[in-house]
Amino acid sequence: MKKIFNFSPGPSKLPQSVIDKVEKSVNNYNNSGKSILEISHRSIEFEKILDEINDNFYELFNLPKDLNILLLQGGATYQNSLIPMNIKKEKTLGCFVTGTWGKKTSEDFLKTFKNLDIIDARNKKLNEYLDQQYSGFQNIDYLHMTSNETIEGVQIQDFNSLNHKNLIIDMSSDLGSYNFNFENLSYVYAGAQKNMGIPGVTICLAKEDFLVEVDNPKYLNLKLLAESNSVLNTPPTLSIYVLNLVTHWMVEMGGVDYFQSKSDGQSKMIYDFIDENSDIMVCNVETKYRSKSNIVFNFLNDKYDTEFVDLAKDNGIIGINGHRSVGGIRVSLFNSVDENMFQYFMDFFKNFVTERK
Ligand SMILES: Cc1ncc(COP(=O)(O)O)c(C=O)c1O
Repeated sequence: MKKIFNFSPGPSKLPQSVIDKVEKSVNNYNNSGKSILEISHRSIEFEKILDEINDNFYELFNLPKDLNILLLQGGATYQNSLIPMNIKKEKTLGCFVTGTWGKKTSEDFLKTFKNLDIIDARNKKLNEYLDQQYSGFQNIDYLHMTSNETIEGVQIQDFNSLNHKNLIIDMSSDLGSYNFNFENLSYVYAGAQKNMGIPGVTICLAKEDFLVEVDNPKYLNLKLLAESNSVLNTPPTLSIYVLNLVTHWMVEMGGVDYFQSKSDGQSKMIYDFIDENSDIMVCNVETKYRSKSNIVFNFLNDKYDTEFVDLAKDNGIIGINGHRSVGGIRVSLFNSVDENMFQYFMDFFKNFVTERK
């Protein structure tokens, strides 16, 4: 079998040890004679999986005691309907938009929350907003933001830099890749299919006071979902099983500290190389907010973009074409991109650039 190096923005590469365990469990889960595909969500085995995820989350993330961990369906996109339906109408809600995903969220929120406050910072200097002197968020009770804009490669890791107490954060493409604290956060969510597993499950972390009484249908009611410990109805058992394996793998690798230092190192190497070769390529993202998860850049001669992607493919490197809306190149450095894989890409990248000098 040809070796493939998957740098896709998601669903992304999984650690090989996780894939091997899934393969085994599909045929015979823990020597039970049953496939993991057949497991009941009301079984003791599944309860154990949920308990392990809970323990691993507390070990991996610096979670406060009053946190609710919910594992829901519908992807991150479903959250765009769920969240505004779980905020009391007398409260104010805002969206701090720094890229495509945040924009989509604001458009969806607006359908439920008519007086939504939208602060659109796309194509503006982010420093203006991420300064304790900035007062534009002050009259908003809950403020949504996207920590990593997967398409544009714009990332804000320091949530304290926003002058706001109750943030709601879409961390779909960077949860698990750096440490953060919950001090000024109310709700965090992430589709699992980047750093944390496969599509089908969305990780939601909710502070107790974010879960209010609302008269929504059951599956749109965060409080009920939290009280049911993610089994209000049949949950995506396989995706949750894979999430558990990934959290175990993360703990074994050295926890979030390990992934943070890996992602700092790998992203720095790529950005330095891009900047050192500014006669041939450019990254247009403000240096301070360049994403460590998705490196977005383009060659000055746009015919090189296609050449780069095609030649990479011939060399087994896949998933590096920029999003169709922005073009160029996007290299995703999720947790599963190990040193060997990264080095293989860098060697290819350096050769490509040297040959075009
Ligand atoms: C930051 C971000 N938010 C939301 C989404 C949408 O996720 P889903 O497909 O799970 O709805 C994506 C998908 O790539 C994403 O990167």
